[in-house]
Amino acid sequence: MRTFNALPLLLAAVPTKAAFSWTNVHTGGGGGFIPSIVFHPKTQGVAYARADIGGMYKLNSDDSWTPISDGIAQDASWHNWGTDALALDPENADVVYAALGMYTNSWDPNNGCIAKSTDQGSTWTFSNLTFKVGGNMPGRGTGERLAVDPANSDIIYFGARSGHGLWKSTDGGVTFSNVTSFTNTGTYREDPSDTTGYESDLMGLLFVTFDSTSATLNGATSRIFVGVADNITASVYESTDAGSTWAPLAGQPGAFFPHKCRLQPTEKALYLTYSNGIGPYDGTDGAVWRYDLTTSVWTDITPVSGSNLYFGFGGLGVDILNPGTLVVAALNSWWPNAQIFRSNNSGATWSPLWEWTSYPSMNNYYGLSTPNAPWIQTSFWDVTNDEDLGWMIESLEIDPFDSNHWLYGTGLTIMGGHDLTNWDTVHNVSIATLANGVEEMAVTGLTSVPGGSELLVAVGDDSGFTYVSSSNLGTAPATNWMTPEFSTSTSVDYAGLTVADIVRSGNTAGTQQIGVSSNGGSTWSIDYGATTTAYGGTVAYSASGDTVLWSTASQGVLRSQYTSTFASISSLPATALIASDKQNDNYFYAGSSATFYVSSNNGETFAAGGSLGSATQINYITVHPTTAGKVYVSTNAGIYLSTNFGSSFTLLTSALTNVYQIALGVGSGSTWNLYAFGTGPAGNKLYGSADNGSTWTDLQGTQSFGAISGCQLAGSGNVAGQVYVGTNGRGVFYAKGTITGGSTTATSTSSTSTSSVKSTSTSTILSTKSTSGTSTTQTTLSTSTVTTHSSITSSTTSSSSSVATCTVGHYAQCGGETYTGCTSCASGYTCQVQNPYYSQCL
Ligand SMILES: *[C@@H]1O[C@H](CO)[C@@H](O)[C@H](O)[C@H]1NC(C)=O
Ligand SMILES: *[C@@H]1O[C@H](CO)[C@@H](O)[C@H](O)[C@H]1NC(C)=O
Ligand SMILES: *[C@@H]1O[C@H](CO)[C@@H](O)[C@H](O)[C@H]1NC(C)=O
Ligand SMILES: *[C@@H]1O[C@H](CO)[C@@H](O)[C@H](O)[C@H]1NC(C)=O
Ligand SMILES: *[C@@H]1O[C@H](CO)[C@@H](O)[C@H](O)[C@H]1NC(C)=O
Ligand SMILES: *[C@@H]1O[C@H](CO)[C@@H](O)[C@H](O)[C@H]1NC(C)=O
Repeated sequence: MRTFNALPLLLAAVPTKAAFSWTNVHTGGGGGFIPSIVFHPKTQGVAYARADIGGMYKLNSDDSWTPISDGIAQDASWHNWGTDALALDPENADVVYAALGMYTNSWDPNNGCIAKSTDQGSTWTFSNLTFKVGGNMPGRGTGERLAVDPANSDIIYFGARSGHGLWKSTDGGVTFSNVTSFTNTGTYREDPSDTTGYESDLMGLLFVTFDSTSATLNGATSRIFVGVADNITASVYESTDAGSTWAPLAGQPGAFFPHKCRLQPTEKALYLTYSNGIGPYDGTDGAVWRYDLTTSVWTDITPVSGSNLYFGFGGLGVDILNPGTLVVAALNSWWPNAQIFRSNNSGATWSPLWEWTSYPSMNNYYGLSTPNAPWIQTSFWDVTNDEDLGWMIESLEIDPFDSNHWLYGTGLTIMGGHDLTNWDTVHNVSIATLANGVEEMAVTGLTSVPGGSELLVAVGDDSGFTYVSSSNLGTAPATNWMTPEFSTSTSVDYAGLTVADIVRSGNTAGTQQIGVSSNGGSTWSIDYGATTTAYGGTVAYSASGDTVLWSTASQGVLRSQYTSTFASISSLPATALIASDKQNDNYFYAGSSATFYVSSNNGETFAAGGSLGSATQINYITVHPTTAGKVYVSTNAGIYLSTNFGSSFTLLTSALTNVYQIALGVGSGSTWNLYAFGTGPAGNKLYGSADNGSTWTDLQGTQSFGAISGCQLAGSGNVAGQVYVGTNGRGVFYAKGTITGGSTTATSTSSTSTSSVKSTSTSTILSTKSTSGTSTTQTTLSTSTVTTHSSITSSTTSSSSSVATCTVGHYAQCGGETYTGCTSCASGYTCQVQNPYYSQCL
């Protein structure tokens, strides 16, 4: 293990002044899947949550969360935001371990690591593994796969995916070696025919659970349980000699996959939840079992049976203070609502969180509120009228020091409350969303409108958000983008001369996927010029707001004027980058490979524009907000500038190469700052220029944004020196400062946020500059941005260009109003509607 510090070489190249200081734009509701929440067993108030693609968070005493992975996922290290497991050291509340890595297939080129913090997540060291870790893979809600021996803090076990078996450290996580005596490395592949490797990978090991009540052997806990994704031979293994030898537990259930295995030390019992799918989207059958450690007796304690059992079980919370009391969650009960069961007699009897009285009436034994994220009420609960309690509930925890305090993770947010024991008395509990500070959205588009709305954010799974002014950035929005609500929005743009006119695109074929607003993005309407088969891609609004140009993911580039039917623009290649002039309604621009295109007739036809020197790849096009015809084009060779509507270009700068998104924002006085993601003297980073691109300053510092090729970027149109970065899984960051030549002066961004989000200044990982590495990352990110950040949306197994025709296997999601993935089922299965939001291959 070595600590990553900024290398001296790197420091020498970086301006001496600090980079900007970054903070999240606040939504207050998380916005994506929380596979796991872990409480420290011995120190009150210490708990962590992991997000599948957006790192980890630490719980604060006021129910808010603080991100703790913002220093470890810079560009080439983007995959460190994928967290497949968390473990705490029972003997030291400052120590946190995490298994990091995003995918085990080709989408992630890097091997994984076990990260360790000894200061509650402020700084990290890394022990590299010789194989990959899959924080955003199937089965990411099982676990935890990582565990610290309660009798010996130097001993850590990790159950790997992909057939790599069980791994053990005996030196406090510095090195890990293979436990070769553990030979069942799993049998289950979710879909063996998936050629991307995403669903065909061997699921491997699922959890490691120590029996802290067992004797110690040479200073180590003797009894250890390991779960395996194997529903053919056995799935729960035991060692009684501190990990030397292993055998399957006798009498264990011979079906399904165990998701959670929790010890109740006072009862000397294990509780386990099982599902017939590996999660997090599936499960149509399952069970809950109790294993008595004293008598070795297995008892089936499944809360429901028969036609009431139409789901698998995921989250499992044991009340450590009250032996016999536990809660379990239906992993996915998509309709009519999620379900949680509670028992106070070791599973002999259960009571549900809701039940039918006489259909369609039901008793809900809970009250629900979302004070930290009102948009969840407006845009989810009020709309669907079911699924209020969530979906993908793999994590359900009772605070080991407070039987009233409970938390659970869903596909959308974190929920929970502070009166859980009321369940046993008045049978009614108060549940609230408690994700304040968790910002895990995958951002797909960003813009700031000069003289208009300060920030428009298009996101995956949660549609998008409008922040009318800078003073709103710290306040959770009252609504997300609705009517139409696209689930995933893919792009947003404004009309430069009529700045209240906004257009956005969505990613769900089946309804019209263009929304327009004439009040700056406060309210919207459907553009009925769009067909129901075109979706995705990017939009550009003409300067006067009469014409929408749409580079779709499905049907090439389309154009509509005055909301007429969108027609194909044959003079542009499919998936071309597009932009509108912000001052002259006649001009649109486009780019593909190395060719720049111009339209001077309002987008009707395009012809090749000026040449871009030695550039071979156009990555992004942006247009000056107030000067007609001033176009900036980012390329592999640098940034090119045209001041004549794209007729000719000059190389503005080659100080940055491999430049991705670029943006203009208000600078000091009447000038405009330039912002760009690219490779410069401080590495692959966000740079700013206040002198028209002559000199560039590192604005990013040690802040992580994930892969720079996947970042969205906007300069403020209204606030001097303010700039926004949209990430794939950590929401939107913003910062404000003055760029002075080669250095910066950061000013603190004003915020009325109630969250205690702060950026943790941690270690720096030197990014590689390999061109092939960069393009690999870019490909990966464009896939994952749209399809894999998880709430209602299923992960798909193919790139966005082929989602419409791809095939998924048994139990996989294949449709639903908000679903964007594969819609065909493998042979032998048909896509069956379960509810408006979920169809499944059965
Ligand atoms: C660990 O892996 C990272 C990323 O793959 C790499 O940059 C780093 O050099 C490796 N560390 C060691 C000690 O090998
Ligand atoms: C670890 O050990 C298991 C069991 O012997 C073996 O199947 C697996 O291939 C090993 N993994 C690695 C990466 O060596
Ligand atoms: C194992 O699980 C898979 C997926 O649910 C299922 O198709 C298969 O029938 C199961 N096998 C056994 C032996 O239960
Ligand atoms: C439980 O409490 C909530 C909120 O106070 C209320 O809306 C609900 O009707 C109660 N449930 C029952 C079954 O009384
Ligand atoms: C146990 O739960 C049942 C059903 O919810 C409840 O009636 C009973 O009062 C509870 N017992 C205790 C000791 O809390
Ligand atoms: C940048 O360009 C603008 C417009 O051409 C000009 O007004 C300004 O003085 C330039 N700034 C610098 C530092 O050269």
